[in-house]
Formats: sequence, structure tokens, C-alpha cells
Amino acid sequence: MFRLITGIAGHSGFGSASTAEQVTQGIDATNLTLLITGGASGIGFETARVLALRNAHVIIAARNMEAANEAKQLILKDNKTARLDVLKLDLASLKSVKTFADNFIALNLPLNILINNAGVMFCPYQLSEDGIEMQFATNHLGHFYLTNLLLDKMKETAKSTGIQGRIINLTSVAHLHTYDEGIQFDKINEETSYSDKKAYGQSKLANILHANELSRRLLAEGANITVNSVHPGLITTNLYRHSSILIKSLKYLTYILWKNVPQGAATTCYVALHPSLKGVSGKYFVDCNEFKSSSFARDEDLAKRLWDFSNKNAPNVLQALIIVYLPQAQSYNRVRGARDNNGSKNRWNHDIHFASSEKLSSKKKNSPLEYPVVTSNTLLYDMPANSGQNDATASVESESTSMWRRRAAEAPVRTAFGKLS
Ligand SMILES: NC(=O)c1ccc[n+]([C@@H]2O[C@H](COP(=O)([O-])OP(=O)(O)OC[C@H]3O[C@@H](n4cnc5c(N)ncnc54)[C@H](OP(=O)(O)O)[C@@H]3O)[C@@H](O)[C@H]2O)c1
Repeated sequence: MFRLITGIAGHSGFGSASTAEQVTQGIDATNLTLLITGGASGIGFETARVLALRNAHVIIAARNMEAANEAKQLILKDNKTARLDVLKLDLASLKSVKTFADNFIALNLPLNILINNAGVMFCPYQLSEDGIEMQFATNHLGHFYLTNLLLDKMKETAKSTGIQGRIINLTSVAHLHTYDEGIQFDKINEETSYSDKKAYGQSKLANILHANELSRRLLAEGANITVNSVHPGLITTNLYRHSSILIKSLKYLTYILWKNVPQGAATTCYVALHPSLKGVSGKYFVDCNEFKSSSFARDEDLAKRLWDFSNKNAPNVLQALIIVYLPQAQSYNRVRGARDNNGSKNRWNHDIHFASSEKLSSKKKNSPLEYPVVTSNTLLYDMPANSGQNDATASVESESTSMWRRRAAEAPVRTAFGKLS
């Protein structure tokens, strides 16, 4: 607290008063390509600006493309040679995350640094497009899925360039203020016990647990990538849009604890670029110095549990837990397929089980089918009776199957969290 208020530097030589430009002074990032989520405003914008100033190729991922293009123009105004690109990403939609990752990979760019910065705070209870509590969905699950989708690209880049990759998760001191059990695995979506503050704390705790677990996994694998988490400090940004007047007024009473935006971006930029952090992974940083996180955040079992929970839910929301509308004027077989985990992308294994179409015939046409929520690796969808696939070993890559899979991907989604989007 004393250091925060006085700005006195810590072991790193930097402190709460250091700015993003100061902590990256003299560092040349010409060889680096980095991606920052939520880089169109607040701390993310300043981070993007300063990293571009250090010659990195910066890709800003944002849900609001107008704001992202404005941010790009603003940076270019003062830095004409900045290498900047913007790409659309809505972290509250797993479909958007997948499309974003596909688009990014199609650009064939390297990826040295991933900064999971975007976030929402204290939202009133609401569900994401996929039917997941909004703060958990945006702050944690979207970033978890995005990181997984980009991990091979980062590993390839680290291998081919010999430059250590870095992943940075923006968390918050608010991770200390979470639900009693840390992460409410069985009540993620529960509205009755929802607290906008604790749900934010829970999602920020998840950011640290994610970083720590990924760090351990990458280390065990021998991948040349570090993963750390960062609390940027208290900074007035759009993040406070859902805050009550009481919280906004508290700022005036606690003004000595607040930082400005250039100071707020310092810890992220320090952890992203500073050479002294080579090989440092699984740590939590505040004011450009390593700090002790909460006991929940250091709990390895909790981190593993969160990993399994997120892994089971994020990628399969689109591919596996699906409700489709009954198409018009045909009779349908109900098809239950299982994802081929070992197979190539978009292939489905051959143990498709056909069930009687009679059970469905009484269902009202054009109404959503109330399928039960299924296990993580199974897909439920409808297929026309005349699709020609009538035995358990039918080839699943036929034209009709891919048509139905496309249709399923566009359908409304029911998630393991039990809500229909
Ligand atoms: N400011 C603080 O005091 C503070 C303290 C501790 C931690 N943090 C953390 O720092 C990070 C940056 O926050 P900030 O203060 O810079 O807030 P901010 O100015 O509101 O920036 C957050 C960014 O995330 C984007 N975003 C929100 N939902 C998104 C979604 N579904 N998909 C894609 N992008 C989305 C926002 O885009 P839109 O403009 O379209 O909404 C915005 O660009 C957050 O992770 C936050 O939790 C901030």
C-alpha cells in the first residue's frame, strides 16, 4: 500500500507511478507480433499504442470495429510507421471467438505475444450468446477458448523464431472478492445467488487460475511460452460503466489509490516486453512487480478443476451441445453422433446411432426440440430420413451430413450450463 501511494519503485526498478512508455524504454520489439483483446479503449488502447511505439506488429481484437478503426487512426496519427491491424472479436460469443481464430490463422502471421485484456465488470445479471453468465463468459471462457485456439500458432512461432512466447491475462485485485467456494462450478448461471461484484471477482480469479494452469502445462510440455497475470491498478475507464453511484463516488475518497491510464498499462507492457522476465511464468504482477495472489488463486487443484470445466464447456458449446429447430415438412431421424477427438478437424466418428423417427413425429414443426443436455463429446442434431445414412457405420462426411452440421452450427445453442441462448 505504501509503495502504491508513494510510487516508490520495487525490485524491478518500477512502481505504481511508472508509465508504459517508461517500462519499455529502449526495448526494440520489431521482431514481435502481438494480439491484444479489447485494444480499442482504456488500458488496452494504451498498451497497443506503446507496444506499437516499440515497433511490434499489433493486432487489436475488438467487438466494436468502428471504435477499433478509430483507435488505429489515433495511434497512426502520432506514429505514422506503426504496424497495426484490427480484427473483429466478440468474446461473449464462442462462435465469434472461433471465427476470429480462423481469420487470424488464415493471415499466416506469427504470434509471439497474446494479451487477454478485454473485460466487463459488475454487469447486471445477463447471459452471453451461448447462455453463460456474462462476466464469466467474457472475462474467462472467451479468453480460455481463444488462447487454446491460438496455442499451436504460438508454439510454432516460438519454435521457428527461437523467441520465447508470452501470454498475459489481465486480472484484478478484485479476484480476492469472490464467492465462498472460489469458483461456483455448479452455480455459474444461478440468478438467485448472483452478485455482480462476486461474479466479477470470480471471473478475475479464473483469469489467474487459467494463467497458472496453462503455465504448468506448457512447462511440462517443454513449450517455450510463459503465462502470467497482471493487476493493472485502479484506473478510470469505461469498465466502470455498470458501477453504482456509490462506487463512483468512492473514487473521490480513495483518489490516492488510483492511477492514470499510462500508469495502468505499465504492468502489462512490462510483463509483455521486459527482458528481465525471460522464463518467468505462472506469476501474478502488480505495479510491475511480482505479488502474492490469494490462496484460491494459488490453489492448483482449483486451477485443474477450472481447466477441465472450461475445456469441457467452451469448445463444445458450438460443436456438441446443440438444439436445432425441427425443419419443415419432412420426417426426421434423430441422430446422435460422437465427436472424433483424434480425427482431423470437422470429422465425426462413425458410431452414429439412429433412433426411431416416430418419437419425433408428434413434435410441433418449427419448434425447438427439448433435447437433454448431453455429455461433452456428443452432438445431437436432426437429419432427414431420406439422407441415405441408415446404418451405424455410415460415412459421416457425406454432403448431407455436412449440410446438417452447418445447420447445427447456425442453430440456437443450449450449453452445459443449462440455458438456451
Ligand atoms: N480499470 C481498472 O480499474 C481495472 C482494474 C483491474 C483490472 N482491470 C482489467 O483491465 C482490463 C481492461 O479494462 P479497462 O479498464 O481498460 O476497461 P475498458 O476501457 O472498458 O476496456 C475493456 C475492453 O474490453 C472490451 N470488451 C468488453 N467486452 C468484450 C467482448 N465481449 N468482446 C470483445 N471485447 C470486449 C471493451 O470493448 P467495448 O468498448 O466494445 O465495450 C473494451 O475495449 C479488464 O480485463 C479489466 O478487468 C481494470
